[in-house]
Amino acid sequence: METKMEQVRIDLAERNRYMRKFFDEKADGFDDVHMSLLESKRAVTEVLPNGIRNVLDLGVGTGMELYALTERFPDVHITGIDISPNMTSYLEKRPFAKQITCIVGDFFETDFGEGYDAVISTSALHHFDSACKAVLYRKIFACLRPGGYFVNSDRFVDTEEEALEFYRYFVDNPDRHGDTPLTVEL
Ligand SMILES: C[S@@+](CC[C@H](N)C(=O)[O-])C[C@H]1O[C@@H](n2cnc3c(N)ncnc32)[C@H](O)[C@@H]1O
Repeated sequence: METKMEQVRIDLAERNRYMRKFFDEKADGFDDVHMSLLESKRAVTEVLPNGIRNVLDLGVGTGMELYALTERFPDVHITGIDISPNMTSYLEKRPFAKQITCIVGDFFETDFGEGYDAVISTSALHHFDSACKAVLYRKIFACLRPGGYFVNSDRFVDTEEEALEFYRYFVDNPDRHGDTPLTVEL
């Protein structure tokens, strides 16, 4: 029997096409808009233990979260995956550009590699439903070294009903940008 959430599935291929177009168009000016979330982007670094050297960033975008990461771990190497080439073009202009290997691609199609000390993600995983997130979480677990860390700073809601409201809005308004945050449990 399907749960209520499973009855409102999102077409992943369509969503990814939309996401790429949306973020390609928003890349110029993205940093200004997201400046208000800078503290939550820094928090991802703060909870990591000492000695992190090798990080995968899912939805790296323009790399705002990497200022704090490279400040705390000056020798860290970051592999960043993102579907939007316009967003990732900003990485080349960052002072830590040489520390990043950028892969322009979709999380679900791209090989994550292996052996990371940590996987981080900021403001990027709230666009998927539970089934897709389960796929992603398995990929994340598989690419971490034993005892590695996954830190996700993202938008969540408190109840399944709230999550369903966001989903329904998104499904009913395919031409508008709608976040689809889940509860932590979902
Ligand atoms: C709100 S931005 C966050 C960027 C950056 N992490 C930050 O916090 O400033 C979300 C990013 O996720 C990327 N993204 C969305 N869906 C994706 C997918 N299926 N595969 C790879 N990247 C995706 C977008 O292109 C975008 O750059």
